[in-house]
This record gives sequence, structure tokens and C-alpha cells, in this order.
Amino acid sequence: MSTVLHIESSPRKIRSRSIKVARVFLQEYTKYHPSDEIVTLDIWDTVLPEVNGDTLDSKYAILHGKEKTVKQIEAWGAVERVISHFLDADKYIFSLPMWNFGIPYKLKHFFDVIIQPGYTFSFSPEEGYKGLVKSKHACVICARGGSYTSEDGSQELDVQQKYMNLILGFIGITDVRPIIIQPTLAGDPEQLEQVLKLAEEEARTIAREF
Ligand SMILES: Cc1cc2nc3c(=O)[nH]c(=O)nc-3n(C[C@H](O)[C@H](O)[C@H](O)COP(=O)(O)O)c2cc1C
Repeated sequence: MSTVLHIESSPRKIRSRSIKVARVFLQEYTKYHPSDEIVTLDIWDTVLPEVNGDTLDSKYAILHGKEKTVKQIEAWGAVERVISHFLDADKYIFSLPMWNFGIPYKLKHFFDVIIQPGYTFSFSPEEGYKGLVKSKHACVICARGGSYTSEDGSQELDVQQKYMNLILGFIGITDVRPIIIQPTLAGDPEQLEQVLKLAEEEARTIAREF
């Protein structure tokens, strides 16, 4: 039995296109993997530790191979709980809106918490950086108001998908299947219906063999 963690990153809930497509994905996934567990992490409904003070000092203590103080160990516990919840999963679904060409700040906060030396990546002068999240894969469902395509060069502006590939690859998740929902705002209602239909079809196809 596998555990699938759905990291839901839009605050728009029933109006969210990325959540809508993620739900279609998970519905199909459940048909084909009935005994797997689906866990949802709503990033807007989760209190994440601030990455400052004793928490940040803990990170630097780890990086510099120093002992943590009692207060740092206490603060670090909150980070470890978020990381272990993340690492408990075998597969990941990220659904996210594009915000200002990138990802929403709440999702960035989540990555700033879980991407830690010795937990999700390692560094040594001999080997450089190595991702520690091995043998796991992800589906990344990106919604955006406009369209970002290679034909007109606007793909250059898409930091959302680029960042997701970069950051997941950094921690070792290199098998990343993308689903792009675009444009969600720029077209007429018929065009939006067509965009959603295509994305949902893609989601069902990927879900079957995910
Ligand atoms: C704060 C904010 C910033 C946004 N920035 C962009 C942007 O840079 N490019 C774009 O194409 N759409 C942008 N949008 C539109 C959203 O990407 C679009 O509405 C998308 O469907 C949101 O995903 P969701 O439906 O899952 O919430 C932005 C929306 C908000 C609220």
C-alpha cells in the first residue's frame, strides 16, 4: 500500500482550477489503486514554523556541524514534524496556482521548512549537493491565468513550473509529471471549458499508471 500526499496550494477552494483537476486525478487514481491512502495537506490551513530565530540557528548548527542548544532542539522539532509528514508519503501531487510568475508564498514557505541538510538533501565538498528523497515521484498540476508557450517565447516568464522542477529535482524527485492548465483567465467560457476538459483527461491518463 502506498501513501499519496496531495499538497493543495490554492486558497480559492471550490473556485480553484488546480484543485479541481487534482480531485479528478485522485478520483481516477483511487479507482486504479483502491487500497492506497490519500492524504491532503492544505497549505493554507497549515501552521508552518517560521524560519527564523532558534529554528534558523538550528539549521546553521547542522550545516556547521555544531551542537544545538536546548531551545534550538525544541524549535527544530516543529521543522522535523513537517519533514517527516512529507517523507511518510510515497508519491506526491502538488496542485498550485501561478502567482506573479512563480509559486504562492505559502508553498515557498513549505519548501523553506522541508528543504534541510541531512533530511532532504546532503552536501559534501567531494560530492556536492545530493537529493535524499529517493525512489519517489510527483505530479505537478499548475494553473495560470495566461498562457506561457515556447511559440511566442512567453515560456521564459514561467517560473512556476521551472521552480517546481528545480526544487523537486534538488531533493531527489526527478520523475515529475506536469499537468498545465492554461489560460484560466484569458479566454472565453468555452475556451476555459476546453482547457479544463483537456487537463482533466490528462490527469486521468497519468493517474492510472502513477
Ligand atoms: C496574487 C495572484 C497573482 C497572480 N499572478 C499571475 C501571473 O503572474 N500569471 C498568470 O498567468 N496568472 C496569474 N494569476 C492568476 C492565477 O494564476 C489563475 O487565476 C489560476 O487559475 C489560479 O489557480 P487556481 O485556480 O488553482 O487558484 C495570479 C492570481 C493571483 C491571485
